[in-house]
Amino acid sequence: MGYSSWNKTRILGVIMMINFLIYILIEVSRSYSNWEATKPIVPSEQFWKKPENSDAYWNRKQQVLEYVNNPLIISSTAAATTEEMQLSTRMNSTAKREHCEPNFTVTAEVKDFSSLPQRFKDFLLYMKCRSYPTLLAAPGVCSESPFLLLAVKSLTPHFDRRQAIRESWGRAGILSNRRVATVFLLGTTPRSDFFPNVSGMLHYEASLHGDLLQWDYRDTFFNLTLKEVLFLNWIAERCPSARFIFKGDDDIFLNTRNILNFLDGLSDSKARDLFVGDVISRAGPHRDKRLKYYIPESFFVGGYPPYAGGGGFLYSSDVGIRLRNISQQVSLFPIDDVYTGMCLQKLGLVPEKHPGFRTFNIEEKYKENACIYQSLMLVHPRSPQEMIQIWSWISDPELSCK
Ligand SMILES: *[C@@H]1O[C@H](CO)[C@@H](O)[C@H](O)[C@H]1NC(C)=O
Ligand SMILES: *[C@@H]1O[C@H](CO)[C@@H](O)[C@H](O)[C@H]1NC(C)=O
Ligand SMILES: *[C@@H]1O[C@H](CO)[C@@H](O)[C@H](O)[C@H]1NC(C)=O
Ligand SMILES: *[C@@H]1O[C@H](CO)[C@@H](O)[C@H](O)[C@H]1NC(C)=O
Ligand SMILES: *[C@@H]1O[C@H](CO)[C@@H](O)[C@H](O)[C@H]1NC(C)=O
Repeated sequence: MGYSSWNKTRILGVIMMINFLIYILIEVSRSYSNWEATKPIVPSEQFWKKPENSDAYWNRKQQVLEYVNNPLIISSTAAATTEEMQLSTRMNSTAKREHCEPNFTVTAEVKDFSSLPQRFKDFLLYMKCRSYPTLLAAPGVCSESPFLLLAVKSLTPHFDRRQAIRESWGRAGILSNRRVATVFLLGTTPRSDFFPNVSGMLHYEASLHGDLLQWDYRDTFFNLTLKEVLFLNWIAERCPSARFIFKGDDDIFLNTRNILNFLDGLSDSKARDLFVGDVISRAGPHRDKRLKYYIPESFFVGGYPPYAGGGGFLYSSDVGIRLRNISQQVSLFPIDDVYTGMCLQKLGLVPEKHPGFRTFNIEEKYKENACIYQSLMLVHPRSPQEMIQIWSWISDPELSCK
């Protein structure tokens, strides 16, 4: 074969290769877009990518954490700015200490600090602090390994909600041949927030039921992420033998039997990576100051990762331990369910949407329909009386739904 004809063959080969590659590209992108329409949205970003540069406070803090923890970034130190280096050195020297004193440097670091709502100021001043003393330790909850641990976010004065849960969907013991345990997650409700002093009654309740887990921090909406982080630590340290964890609010109805049936039907691999709930995708921060979920631009820019609404979600303890580990690399964010979504994204996990989780309620006309409750997993909101009533409906052996 002559030199020039060999060259032609090579060029022909290269052209064929390119055509083939284009074909594959088109096929892959076509199947991807079909697939996307039916499956939960997979975050498009790489989870170890260098975070978007931004002046917003949370983004800056997260950038420092990424820098300190990211193997890719650490290996390419040339890319790091001197500011990042300085920040990370400072992080390094202080990381081990507990930061439970308010840090007033933040008042200068956030440009509109003085005009932010008070709850933001409170959040920012204590943002680094993740460790608070345990006041009530829920000693008996995990003495026998639960198959399903129900962790309910409550507030000290909500005695009736907790009792209704104990008498209905959260009754501890054996259900459908599985061990169920229940624990209530509490902070403190101080006089300075105008709460009545219920500490005598709370201690009595703890001595009766042993299912209260309380930490010494101010229980507010913006501190719910703290509740999440403290709970994940507790799981890892005090209850690692639980197989599955449901975490939700104290004003929901949970069909615990359906949850158990669902869990029993999972394959091993599905069970290991389980995280299901009412998943919200493509959401982002609200910029209207009057909203409960308002997040100022000076604090956070960017979209939210897919996350399961905080009314209630279900996950394996395996995922719980991974979440706990990764949470140390994610700066606290004032909205707890979004924060959990951020941690999941960092783990490369996508929360799965399950239609039975109805955190935005069901149609009014079905509210009294027992069969509806028999088929769903969770509904929000429900009063203590409704919890007891619905549980008695779906526990009635005479109930027949087709
Ligand atoms: C952080 O501390 C560790 C050991 O304590 C050290 O190896 C590392 O180089 C430090 N990183 C920076 C950026 O100072
Ligand atoms: C407060 O925060 C700044 C920057 O985030 C840090 O340099 C400083 O050491 C912190 N102060 C204390 C007392 O931890
Ligand atoms: C709240 O009540 C308990 C007992 O009822 C009492 O021991 C405690 O001192 C009270 N706390 C405050 C801050 O008044
Ligand atoms: C969170 O709890 C800490 C400790 O009690 C408190 O100082 C801080 O003000 C609380 N933050 C919010 C946003 O309520
Ligand atoms: C979590 O972190 C602990 C301690 O750093 C480590 O021993 C454990 O293997 C980690 N677990 C997972 C699932 O990453």
